[in-house]
Amino acid sequence: MTRLVIVSNRVSPPTGDGQANQGGLAVALSSALRVTNGIWFGWSGNETEKFTGQVHFSRNEGVTTATIDLEPQDVEEYYNGFANRTLWPLFHDRTDLAEYERTFAGGYARVNQRFAETLVPLITPDDVLWIHDYHLIPLGSELRKQGVKNRTGFFLHTPWPVARLLTSLPSHQEFVESLFAYDLLGFQCQTWLDSFLYYVQDQFPHAEVKDNVIRIGDRTVQVIACPIGIDATEFIESATSAEADESRHAILRSLEGRTLIMGVDRLDYSKGLEQRFHGYSRLLQDHPEFQEKVTFLQIAPPSREEVGSYQDIRRELDALSGHINGEFATAHWVPLRYVNRGYDRIALSGMYRAARAALVTPLRDGMNLVAKEFVAAQDPEDPGVLILSRFAGAAEQLKDALLVNPFSPEELADALQQALRMPVEERKTRWRALMDSVETEDVHWWLRRFLDLLNDNGADRLVPPPPSNDVEPANNTDKSVQPAASS
Ligand code: ADP
Ligand code: F6P
Repeated sequence: MTRLVIVSNRVSPPTGDGQANQGGLAVALSSALRVTNGIWFGWSGNETEKFTGQVHFSRNEGVTTATIDLEPQDVEEYYNGFANRTLWPLFHDRTDLAEYERTFAGGYARVNQRFAETLVPLITPDDVLWIHDYHLIPLGSELRKQGVKNRTGFFLHTPWPVARLLTSLPSHQEFVESLFAYDLLGFQCQTWLDSFLYYVQDQFPHAEVKDNVIRIGDRTVQVIACPIGIDATEFIESATSAEADESRHAILRSLEGRTLIMGVDRLDYSKGLEQRFHGYSRLLQDHPEFQEKVTFLQIAPPSREEVGSYQDIRRELDALSGHINGEFATAHWVPLRYVNRGYDRIALSGMYRAARAALVTPLRDGMNLVAKEFVAAQDPEDPGVLILSRFAGAAEQLKDALLVNPFSPEELADALQQALRMPVEERKTRWRALMDSVETEDVHWWLRRFLDLLNDNGADRLVPPPPSNDVEPANNTDKSVQPAASS
């Protein structure tokens, strides 16, 4: 029996609440693990004074997780350091924020070795291994060094930067070469895959690249663009549940008849929140007819708080939100509600459904699942408008959104104006096209596509057949956002 072994920095086992609070990715991975009796391996999120290599097993709703604790120095150099101070900014085109410290690179290599050493005893020869994201790029090569011959795939959840930026990373060739240890490499969209292939051809002249296959030395590596999706069926169910409806009503009541514009992001400099706030401010400035008619709710829970650049962006947004409210607020209206906390997924889906427009405007994003969640949560008879950055991986699929340059406050203000005035027929037409993509290329489609390629021996399927898609979005008759404002 082929067993799936998933490895990622963070492990999200089922939450025991009927999956209500588990993201689509975790639900999909859990279901594949359940079917193959597999293991999900990663960091426990805990620190231990001295690394012991002890593996903590746990089993929840048929999913086995195996986690290890890391030393404080590991967390500092690997997670806060190389992953989030070096690679994250570099992969999101922020070389100005990237810190190139040898200790970070050393910690990253050490933790990847530690992952490999503790994982090897858990692997059996028939297992298929699937490693995730920028934290673990060299893990495949570490596993090969320790004799692992299993089929092994890697999926990158972030963008792949252009060669000109990537070459600023010390030892970039060695770093990229470690990816040739995998049998299959997955990228979120064609643009990131093209950047990767360009780098490979530029830096490894002996590599032969043809038909999405790289041949280099004795290695053959297949590459694909395989955009991750959400569990659309599950999200529709969430958004139309009684609990979500309560959340929708609560937010609508608080708006007192105003139209809701919404944003939901981790508080990360890649999400373009500063530029977004400027875009909204520009709308209020240039189109005063919208003042007191709209409210912008930006939900942004803090993320990676140990890292200086995240502390900086938080301070900047605190000041900017205060400034915008100071400039435009009246005794009866706060134009920008800026909220630094997370919400339950169901509550969030109800809020998405209440919004007339969503601003999903990252400066760079591997995919962006919020965009897809917003689409799935809409009322088909009165859908909101998705304003989406051209620089998110999702823009390759969601072409019927209002696609914008997130760096331009004017373009953001124009798109907001267009969304707020858009007639319902156009909103429905655009939404239908978006929803077709979100439903067809969902997380189950993504999982099957990747794993069917990875598991090329064809002996067993690693994923269950597609779930039946028989949940209809419930119609909602009392959506009470006011009609689009007019000049
Ligand atoms: P990233 O992986 O960079 O954070 P994505 O948009 O791809 O960006 O995924 C973010 C996920 O986190 C989405 O599933 C979204 O619903 C969830 N999320 C983001 N902000 C919040 C929040 N404030 N409360 C709850 N969930 C959130
Ligand atoms: O999308 C990239 C990513 O690193 C995911 O892997 C992760 O779940 C998310 O961002 C949140 O980041 P962190 O695990 O650092 O809190």
